[in-house]
Amino acid sequence: MKYNPDKNGYYGQFGGAFIPELLHPNVQELEDNYTDIIESESFQKEYKNLLKDYVGRPSPLYFAKRLSNKYGVNIYLKREDLNHTGAHKVNNTIGQILIAKRLGKTKIIAETGAGQHGVATATVCALMDLECVVFMGEKDIQRQAPNVARMKMLGAKVVPATSGSKTLKDATNEAIRYWIQNPDTYYLIGSVVGPHPYPDMVARLQAIISEEMKWQLKEHTGKENPDTIIACVGGGSNAAGAFYHYLDDEEVELIAVEAAGLGVDSGESAATSQLGEVGVIHGSKTILMQDEYGQIVEPYSISAGLDYPGVGPLHAFLFDEKRAKFMNATDKEALNAAYELTRLEGIIPALESAHALAVLPKMKFEKDQTIVINLSGRGDKDLETYIKHLK
Ligand SMILES: Cc1ncc(COP(=O)(O)O)c(C=O)c1O
Repeated sequence: MKYNPDKNGYYGQFGGAFIPELLHPNVQELEDNYTDIIESESFQKEYKNLLKDYVGRPSPLYFAKRLSNKYGVNIYLKREDLNHTGAHKVNNTIGQILIAKRLGKTKIIAETGAGQHGVATATVCALMDLECVVFMGEKDIQRQAPNVARMKMLGAKVVPATSGSKTLKDATNEAIRYWIQNPDTYYLIGSVVGPHPYPDMVARLQAIISEEMKWQLKEHTGKENPDTIIACVGGGSNAAGAFYHYLDDEEVELIAVEAAGLGVDSGESAATSQLGEVGVIHGSKTILMQDEYGQIVEPYSISAGLDYPGVGPLHAFLFDEKRAKFMNATDKEALNAAYELTRLEGIIPALESAHALAVLPKMKFEKDQTIVINLSGRGDKDLETYIKHLK
């Protein structure tokens, strides 16, 4: 498959494992074992059982009638918001915790932006009786307070990251720093970022989204393929999962939506594909927002989960190859899309997912086209922001 990484974790020129020597044994151990573990019968049985009975999968594929009428096209929503813990993140944490256990790890660390990955990690650690430490930017601790409370109740220790923009990038820096000092821990990364094999491993664990979409769409429409799939991109894990089984079907249009913050050229944005250049961040070569000296430009988005200056290497490759179309939505457009979905369909989306919905008014459709939007999470965590901006 063209869009699978090579044995060194490269998608075209992107990917690889740029890590300090001290982390080499951990990353190598994971690389040596992850495919055998994921493909083993015992893993698949445990993973699929937990996804079914604990997470509540398959997540429904819902025909959004009123939204479809508004845009004159058939819109289906893949309801990752209905998963246990409220987002797609748990598909990955269930998988990785089973891998960590098979590798004999007892202590788990994670980074989080919106707090959904932190909650999903704290949840599986409670389930498996493992120690859990979550790093989170100080700004995100404030704007995603409900998720911080959930993590604490689940028994995790939440460590604030106080450097830089005090958001996801800084939380990831802290997690990597801690990992170097405590190499006996398992780093449970929350997106398709980081050194090889994380991007491929997380994409495989999120691929359940498009695996289900295929048969669900066939049940609804008689065809496995939609015309278009739309997903938001922070690091890129929900998009990777929604695209995965369609990557080689070139007739399926893939749309990745980044956060434009106050506007792509405002200086307050996280639209990496538009503003970024090739560089190395958090262990992999990708595109990232940087200045002329290669220093990372602080990103900005109203949405903590999209407030990241890079994208995973798979997405950098999809962008470079023009396999996926990259669009973006501002804070305001995302807020409006969230209010619209709430009023038309009675579904309050996560602010991240609202960015995927926000490109609908910018697109042109033909009436019989079928579109799937990956509704990556629910909006409970964002209520304070929604209420603040509600006119
Ligand atoms: C609901 C939701 N959607 C999307 C994202 C963005 O992450 P990713 O691009 O890895 O899917 C996040 C991250 O926290 C999230 O919570």
